[in-house]
Amino acid sequence: MGAGRFEGQVAVVTGAASGIGEATARLLAAGGARVVVADVADAGAAVAREVGGRFRQTDVAVREEVEALVAGTLAGEGRLDILVNNAGIGALAAVPDLAPELWRQVMAVDLDAVFWACRVAIPAMREAGGGAIVNVASISGLAADRGFAAYNAAKAGLINLTRAMAIDHARDGIRVNAVCPGLVETPLAAPLAAVPGLMDAWLPTIPIGRAIRPGEIAEVIAFLASGSASAMTGSVVVVDGGMSAHTGQPDFLGRVMAAAGG
Ligand SMILES: NC(=O)c1ccc[n+]([C@@H]2O[C@H](COP(=O)([O-])OP(=O)(O)OC[C@H]3O[C@@H](n4cnc5c(N)ncnc54)[C@H](O)[C@@H]3O)[C@@H](O)[C@H]2O)c1
Repeated sequence: MGAGRFEGQVAVVTGAASGIGEATARLLAAGGARVVVADVADAGAAVAREVGGRFRQTDVAVREEVEALVAGTLAGEGRLDILVNNAGIGALAAVPDLAPELWRQVMAVDLDAVFWACRVAIPAMREAGGGAIVNVASISGLAADRGFAAYNAAKAGLINLTRAMAIDHARDGIRVNAVCPGLVETPLAAPLAAVPGLMDAWLPTIPIGRAIRPGEIAEVIAFLASGSASAMTGSVVVVDGGMSAHTGQPDFLGRVMAAAGG
């Protein structure tokens, strides 16, 4: 899709120092948007420099910092057309073993931050006549994974928060959509991918047979943020290489053929 599709627009991307957020910042900037790169990590400064945008160091787990990010963008850039709530973290533990502080941190980053950001962004977008919000959820918000209770709960909450905001603000010209990635090659997934043998079990569950590249998620986020998706709001778009299309049941045909052959 064309260069210039975001010309004159201002976008905020959280978690844009790395992975999906970084790829999204680059794509929106390539389309002409002025991008505010928001991240707790210093690495966001280099990304902002490269895309000709602005770095705002923000810990999205802190209400005041999220509010300052959105309000500061509105004050500094004069407008906010696109908000990509992408920053996210996980925690690996079942409920009895999950430290309450870790539960709270996952909720703060993956869910509360979106509430705080949208609480400031939506009135400004409404005043301006519209805008686009894209929330980066996960297929782990559509079903559960063993040992991912906090992440599963936060991302499920984010998906329904997306729908709620979409229907509340559709008549304001504000579109709110969610993207649900499967396995994406980013630092977030790296610790799991590094566990010996885990990828050997993981890849066969992905029909396309490989992890997704961050740019492939960014393309979908950019599409949802663009005028090409003008009739889409409240949509939950799965980008998982076919993983969630599968019931998880055994390979019936393969097993039957093997049994017949053997
Ligand atoms: N990688 C995957 O397989 C995968 C799958 C499904 C969903 N997702 C989601 O995609 C989103 C992006 O993740 P990614 O895979 O690109 O990971 P990543 O680790 O490459 O990037 C996440 C970014 O968020 C930033 N961040 C973390 N906590 C923050 C905070 N408190 N305040 C501000 N920034 C913070 C990090 O510094 C980092 O730059 C997340 O919401 C994640 O849950 C990722």
